[in-house]
Amino acid sequence: AYGFRDQLQDAMALVDAAPDLLREHLLRAAGRQFLEGDVQHWWHPPSGRGVRTRCSDDLLWLPLAVSRYVDVTGDTGVLDECVPYLQARQLRPEEETSYDRPMVTDEQGSLYEHCLRAIERALRFGSHGLPLMGGGDWNDGMNLVGAEGRGESVWLAFFLFEVLSRFAVVAEQKGDVVTADRYAIAAGRLRGNVEEHAWDGEWYLRAWFDDGTPLGSATSAACRIDSISQSWGVLTGAASHARATTALDSVDRLLVSDRDRLIRLLEPPFDGSMNPGYIRGYAPGVRENGGQYTHAAIWTAMAFAALGNHRRAWELFDLINPVTHGATAEATAVYRIEPYVVAADVYGVAPHIGRGGWSWYTGSAAWMYRLLVESLLGLERRGSTLHINPRLPEGWEHATIHYRYQETTYCITVHQPAHGVSDGGEVTSTTLDGVGIAEPAIALVNDRRVHRVAIELGALNLEPSHR
Ligand code: GLC
Repeated sequence: AYGFRDQLQDAMALVDAAPDLLREHLLRAAGRQFLEGDVQHWWHPPSGRGVRTRCSDDLLWLPLAVSRYVDVTGDTGVLDECVPYLQARQLRPEEETSYDRPMVTDEQGSLYEHCLRAIERALRFGSHGLPLMGGGDWNDGMNLVGAEGRGESVWLAFFLFEVLSRFAVVAEQKGDVVTADRYAIAAGRLRGNVEEHAWDGEWYLRAWFDDGTPLGSATSAACRIDSISQSWGVLTGAASHARATTALDSVDRLLVSDRDRLIRLLEPPFDGSMNPGYIRGYAPGVRENGGQYTHAAIWTAMAFAALGNHRRAWELFDLINPVTHGATAEATAVYRIEPYVVAADVYGVAPHIGRGGWSWYTGSAAWMYRLLVESLLGLERRGSTLHINPRLPEGWEHATIHYRYQETTYCITVHQPAHGVSDGGEVTSTTLDGVGIAEPAIALVNDRRVHRVAIELGALNLEPSHR
C-alpha cells in the first residue's frame, strides 16, 4: 500500500536527486483526495481500495510537499496539473475508519486547488484555538486523544503553522493574494495561541484530551514530555528562541540517553493511567510507547542543528547511526539487528534497552538522508541557487560532495582547520572554479561541465551551550 503521509515524506527527500519522482507522486497523492478534502490514509494500487479515517494531519502533507517541490525546483507549472477527486460515503459518527473502494469522480481540480481543499478542511480548532486532533495525528497510536472531536494537538499546531506559512508563499507566487494573506494571518494566530496556551514551563505540551486534560505535561502520569512538539516548535521557527532552547535542553535531559545510545519519543511510557489509544497496547519502551521511534529521533537531531548546535546534532546522529550499533561484539549483542539499515525503533525500557526493533521498513530513512544532506552538510537548493552551509564533526578535516544539477556536476570540497576545533565553524571563504564569491551560494547552470566549489570553514568559538 501507499501511506498518504508516509510516501509524501519519502518523496520529499528526493527533491534534489529525483525531482520528477516527487512531482509524479504529488499528482498520485492528490488523486487520493475525497471531494470533502480528506484523503485515504493508505490505499492499494491499482484498485485504489483503502481506508478513510478521521486522521488530522494526513491531508496536510500534500500542501507541504507541494510547497517544497515548488520552492526547490521553481516548477510552478505543476500547480496547474488537473487531477480528479474521489467520492465515497462519509464516516458514520460512531465509525473510526472504513475500508472501501472509492469512485473516481468527474470533478477535477488543479493541484493547487487540491492543496487548498486540504488546508481548508484542516482549519478546525478547539477551545484553545489549536487544531483538532481527530482520530490521531502523526502518532497513529494516539487515536483516542481527540476521538470525540474536542481534543487539540500541539504538534499539529506547529505542523499546520508550517503548512500555512509555506503555502502562503506558493499562493503569492500564484497571484492569489487573498489566500496568501489569509494563511499568513492564520499562521500568526496559531503561533500566538500555542505560545499563550501550550507552554508547560520547560517544554511544550503534546495535546489536550477531549475532556481538557493536558498530555505531555510535567503533571502527566505518563508521557510528561513528547519530543515532537519540541522538535517541530524549533524546526518551524514558531517557538521563540528562548523557549526553543529550553525545550531542547529538556529533550536532551529527559529523552536522550548517551549511555543507552538512543533518543526516546516520549517518557514515561503509557501504562494504565490514561488512554490515548492503541499506543498503550505496545509494551512500555517499545515502538511509539517510549522507545526510540527513529523517525522522530531524527527530527530531534535536526532541531539541534536548526538551533545552531551542530556538535550536538552530529552526536545525536551518531547515536542513531546503525553502524555505531554494530561496532563491537558487545554492541551487536545488545542491538541484535542489521547494522547497515535504519531501524524504525529501538527499545527504551529494561530488560531490552538498546535492542533494535523493526528494521528495513521505516519512514525514517528518508529523514535520515535529509538530516545528513540538509541539516548537517547544509545543502539547500532554492530555485537555481544552491546554498551550502556545511558543518563537519570534530576530527573531520574535509568532506567532498558531488551535487548533480540536471546534467552538470558540482564537486564541492569542504575543509576545516585540523587543530583546536571541536565543532565545525562557519564558512569563511568560498570559491567557484577558482574565483572567490561573497556567499556560499552557487548559481546553478546546466552547462554540462564539471564545476569545482571549495569551501573553507573557520574555527568555532566554543560557547558553553555548544557542548
Ligand atoms: C508508522 C506509520 C506512520 C506514523 C508513524 C508514527 O511509521 O507508518 O504513518 O506517522 O508510525 O505513529
